[in-house]
Amino acid sequence: MIKKRALITGITGMDGSHLADLLLEKGYEVFGMERRTSTPNRTNIEHLEGKITFVNGDLSDQMSLLRCLKKTKPDEVYNLAAQSFVYASFITPEQSSDVDGLGVLRMLEAIREYGKPVKFYQASTSEMFGKVQETPQKETTTFYPRSPYGVAKLYGHWITKNYRESYGMFNCCGILFNHESERRGVEFVTRKITDGVARIHLGLQDKIVLGNLDAKRDWGYAPDYVEAMWLMVQQDEPDDYVISTGKTYSIREFLDYSFKHIGITDWSKYVGQDERYMRPSEVDLLRGDSSKALKNLGWKPKTSLEEMVGKMIDNDIKQLGEK
Ligand code: NAP
Ligand code: GDD
Repeated sequence: MIKKRALITGITGMDGSHLADLLLEKGYEVFGMERRTSTPNRTNIEHLEGKITFVNGDLSDQMSLLRCLKKTKPDEVYNLAAQSFVYASFITPEQSSDVDGLGVLRMLEAIREYGKPVKFYQASTSEMFGKVQETPQKETTTFYPRSPYGVAKLYGHWITKNYRESYGMFNCCGILFNHESERRGVEFVTRKITDGVARIHLGLQDKIVLGNLDAKRDWGYAPDYVEAMWLMVQQDEPDDYVISTGKTYSIREFLDYSFKHIGITDWSKYVGQDERYMRPSEVDLLRGDSSKALKNLGWKPKTSLEEMVGKMIDNDIKQLGEK
């Protein structure tokens, strides 16, 4: 049987590595696009070495994307690469916009130039809802991004739809709400907390210093969410879907679950706050409605927040213990 071929951009990231695991399980030939860095960080993909093929490319370099397509001849392209840290997009807005906005256009142009049928998935985001215009947020909710990241992602979202409508391309956008896992970068609030809680538990750290504790997020588990990406691409007709749990929790509640996991109920002396982690403009509340995904894709989240927090902390304790 001929294996389907998938090209994943952002292979070193959290989602890229989980999606590669899923597609390998499904019998795909997987290609992962990596960019050059002075000190490569392959923590998330060490286990994939020898199982997938790595190719070099960068979303800020048009020709490198076309070369990746020619080399890998994919049936499906999952565009997961991005400058994905919202806070950083306030510091490097131009670079973030170039990669997260124009980078999508470059990939779509590369696919057009390549000329063979390719199914394309774009990693859109709940950050596009920003200052939310209704709750819960669904596919038809008006967007109101609150960061250079959100604005750039909105461009990526619309250009993906526009190329679908203009050129009949199979393009779909997953509007994914926050999702986390043991492979999450440590600068994101969930992993910063689980890593900090693990360090406090092991006597390696006294305090976790955070920014706004009142923001609310709809947090799911990344391995559940990459399954939704794959399902969208398997449909006969391309469409866009919200992927979320429908539940929302504040950072304070995330701290409750995390400290409870190591037997601490009053965490006040272990958590500090500092202005430097506050954002110029904040997304206060996200809660998604993924009923369209349930109806059309048969997708629903499997992992609860409590379960996910437990997995992340246990993994952080294990990793720190090994070090
Ligand atoms: P992540 O862990 O930060 O991974 C981002 C990936 O993009 C990394 O592999 C990174 O490579 C790569 N990358 C960055 N700039 C690039 C460039 N110029 N050219 C090529 N590759 C580049 O992010 P994630 O959490 O897995 O998220 C995956 C995608 O989903 C992103 O597009 C993100 O914006 C979007 N998203 C995430 C969530 C979430 O909650 N996780 C929710 C909605 C949407 P390096 O290792 O070299 O930096
Ligand atoms: N990172 C971080 N660090 N966030 C903090 C901190 C801190 O010390 N203290 C409080 N927060 C708050 C942020 O202000 C924000 O309201 C919330 O925690 C979540 O921040 P992040 O974990 O950085 O995620 P995000 O919601 O901004 O963005 C993530 O989700 C988006 C989907 O909604 C990223 O994965 C994006 O790439 C993704 O699109």
